[in-house]
Amino acid sequence: MHDRDDREMGAVGSRLVRVDADAKVTGRALYVDDLTFPGMLEAALVLPGCAHARLLKVDASDALAMAGVHAVVTADDVPGENQVGVVDRDQPLLPSERIRYSGDAVAVVVAETRAIAREAAAAVRAETEEIPAVFDAVRAMEPGAPKVHDDGNVFLEYRVRKGNIDEGFEAADIIVERTFRTHHQEHSYLEPLGAIAVPEEHGGVTIYGTMQCPYYVQKAVATVLGLPLAHVRVIQTVTGGGFGGKEDSPSEICACAAVAAWKLRRPVKLIYTREDDFYRSSKRHPMTVTYKLGATRDGTFTAAQIRVVADAGAYSTLTPVVVFRAAAHATGPYEIPNVHTDAYGVYTNRQTTGAFRGFGQPQTIFANESIVDEVAEALGLDPIDVRLKNGLAVGKRTATNQLLTESVGLPETLRQAREASGWDAKRAERGADSDPIKRGIGVGSIYYGVSLGAKGLALDGSGAHMNVYRDGSVRIAIGGTEMGQGLLTVLTQIASDALGAPTESIHVDHVDTSVVPDSGPSVASRTTLMTGNAIIDAAEKLRATMGEVASELLGVPTGEITFRDGRVGAGDRSIAFAELAAECWARNVNTAADGWYAAPLSTFDEDGQGDAYAIYSYATHVAEVEVDTRTGHVRLVRVTAAHDVGKILNPTTLEGQVEGGVLQCAGMALYERMITDGGDILTPDFSTYILPTAMDVPEIETLFIEEPYSRGPFGAKGIGETPAMPGAVAIANAIYHATGLRFLELPITAEAVRLALADGRGR
Ligand code: MTE
Repeated sequence: MHDRDDREMGAVGSRLVRVDADAKVTGRALYVDDLTFPGMLEAALVLPGCAHARLLKVDASDALAMAGVHAVVTADDVPGENQVGVVDRDQPLLPSERIRYSGDAVAVVVAETRAIAREAAAAVRAETEEIPAVFDAVRAMEPGAPKVHDDGNVFLEYRVRKGNIDEGFEAADIIVERTFRTHHQEHSYLEPLGAIAVPEEHGGVTIYGTMQCPYYVQKAVATVLGLPLAHVRVIQTVTGGGFGGKEDSPSEICACAAVAAWKLRRPVKLIYTREDDFYRSSKRHPMTVTYKLGATRDGTFTAAQIRVVADAGAYSTLTPVVVFRAAAHATGPYEIPNVHTDAYGVYTNRQTTGAFRGFGQPQTIFANESIVDEVAEALGLDPIDVRLKNGLAVGKRTATNQLLTESVGLPETLRQAREASGWDAKRAERGADSDPIKRGIGVGSIYYGVSLGAKGLALDGSGAHMNVYRDGSVRIAIGGTEMGQGLLTVLTQIASDALGAPTESIHVDHVDTSVVPDSGPSVASRTTLMTGNAIIDAAEKLRATMGEVASELLGVPTGEITFRDGRVGAGDRSIAFAELAAECWARNVNTAADGWYAAPLSTFDEDGQGDAYAIYSYATHVAEVEVDTRTGHVRLVRVTAAHDVGKILNPTTLEGQVEGGVLQCAGMALYERMITDGGDILTPDFSTYILPTAMDVPEIETLFIEEPYSRGPFGAKGIGETPAMPGAVAIANAIYHATGLRFLELPITAEAVRLALADGRGR
C-alpha cells in the first residue's frame, strides 16, 4: 500500500512511497548485469591507453588462441557506419587509424566468460605510433598546439551580446575580474555502464542496458549496424544512477555489444569495470572562466564580460548543448544591462566530457557567484542584499534579453534561505582569533533553463502510451527514464490525478523504444515536466472517451462528469473508475491513448539574444562551514537549500533530490578531483577519487517555494539538477567568510587550504 498524507489535493503533492522502493531494497529489481539470455557470451574492451597515437595494427593472434575466446571485433567488423557522435560526426565507435584519448577502444573481445574476455583483452596487442598530445583546453587554443582533429581544436563558439559593454563598465564604480578553474568530475553512479545485445529472429537486434537516453542508443546502434530504426529495439533496464553520465556513453557500450552480437549471431553482454567507466564515460567539463563584473556604489550591476573555455576532451559528444547552456546562463540569475559572453568548446586528448547534473552551469556558477561576493564585499554590502537587488524577478530580463513573465521564485528563495539559516546573525559573528576552528557562512544562487532550450537537439517532445484494462488497472509506457530521481513515482501521481484512478491501480514501465515514439533524452531536468505533460494529454483523451460512456450510463451531461479519487460522475451519481473501465470494454470502446507534449519554441540568435528556454527554475543554498586552520580540513556543518519548484509533486522525492544534490555540491567543492598524468588516470577508483560519504552529510534544511508554471504538470517545473548547482560556490564563499581565503579553483581540498594558510594568505 502506498503511504499518503492528507494534503487537500489527490495524489499530486502527497508523500507517495517510491513505487520502485520495494523491488530495489529487497533485491528483486533486475539491473542489466542480472539478466542472461540463452547462448549469451561476455565481452571486454581493448584500450591501448595512448593519449594520442596512430594505430598501425591490432594483433589479436594470442587472444584468439586462448580457450573460450570466440572473436576479437575491430573496426573492420562494423557493418554500418563506424560512428557514434551524438551531435557531431567526429567519434568512431572503434578507431581504425587514430587514437585520440586513453579511453578509445580498438577492439571488443568476446568469450565464454567475462574473466576469459578480460584476460584475452589484455593479450591483444595494439601497435601504435605516438603523436604529440594536448591536455589543457586553453593551451589547445593556442596556435601551434597539437591538433586533436584535423580541422583544429576550437570546434564550437557561442556569443551573447546585450547592450554596450564599454558603456556598462564606464558607468561602474567598481570592477572585479578573476579567472576561475574547475576540474573533471566523475558521475560515480552506483551501477557501472552495461549492455546486452540480443540478435532477433526477424533480423533486428534488441538492446538491454542501463541508460538515460534509449533513443540515442537506438540511433547509434542502427547507425553502426546499418539497420533501419524499426529493427533496433532498446529496453532500458533498472538504472542505478545516471546524473548525466548515462546520456552519451551508453551509445558507445551498447553499439560495441551490438556489433559483437551481430558478428557472432549470439547475445553478447558487456559490463564495464569501474576503471573502464573512469576512462570511457563522459565527465563534467573542466572549464576556465574569466569573469569581469562592474557595479555602481549601491551594488547595481552595470556590465559583465565573460569568457568560458570548456575542455571537451577527444570528441565533442554533448559539448555543443552543454556549452550553449553555460553561455546562456553565464551571468548568473541577475538582470545585467550590458553583457558580453564568449564560450568555446575545445578538443584536447583527455577524457570526453558531456552532461553532468547542472549541464555546464556549476562551473560558471562558481565564477559568477564568487565574483558577486567579491563585489559586495568591496562595496561594503551584504551578499544577499546585492543578490536581491540584481536578482531576476517577473518583469526583468535575462542575459539573452528574455522577458520573464511567470514563475520566478528567486527573490523568495533568497529571503527564505536568509531567514531559515539565521544569516544576518551568523554573518556578523566573529569567533575568537585564538580559536583554530574558523566558522563561516556563504551563499550561492542560480537559475536553470528547464529542458534543452534553443540549441538543444532538434527534438523537444515527449510521449506516453496509457492503457486502461477492463478491471480498471492502468499501465503506462513512457519515453523518459527513471535513473533514481523518482520519476516513476511522480508520474504515477500525475497519472492518478489526471485520470482520477487510484495510484495503486497504476503501473509505469521503464522505456521500451518499440512502444513510445522518440521522446528525446532524459536530461536537462525535462523528464518529469515533458513526460508528465504527455501523460496528462493521454489522460485527457481517455477522460473524453470514457466520459461519454459514463454520461450515457449515469444520465449526466459529459461536461459535468469528473474523474476523481477512483470515481467517475457528478454529485451523487457516480461509479467506480474500474466499473466504468469494464463497461467501456463491454461496449468495445477503446481505452488506450497516446499522449504527447512538445515544448514551446525557444530562440537564440547569433548574438545570443532570444527566449533561450521556455521556463527557469531557481534556487539559493546557504552553506555553513568550520575550517580547521591546523589541518586545512573543511567541515560542512549545515546547508539551507531553498528551491522554487513550481509545484511540489512529492515532498519526499523532492527532499531526496535536494539532499543528494547538496552532497554532490560538497564533492565538487571539497573532494572530487580526477588526477591524470598524460593519458593515465591516477585516480580510477573510489579509494583514490574521493567522494563525500554518509560521514560527510551536513544538517540539511530544505525549503520549497511554489510559483506555478502555467505549462507545467500541475504547475511543476524541472528541478532534478538544481540541487547540485548552488552549493559548491556557497561552500567556497563560506570558506572565504571563515578564513579570508578566496579560492579560484575547485576542489578546495584540505591540502589547498593548509598551503594557502601557510603562505600567509587569508586572515
Ligand atoms: N537523482 C538520482 N537519484 N539519480 C540520478 O541519476 N540524475 C539527475 C537528477 N537527479 C539523477 C538524479 C539528472 S542529471 C537529471 S537531468 C534529473 O535528475 C532528471 O530528473 P527529471 O525527471 O526532473 O528530468
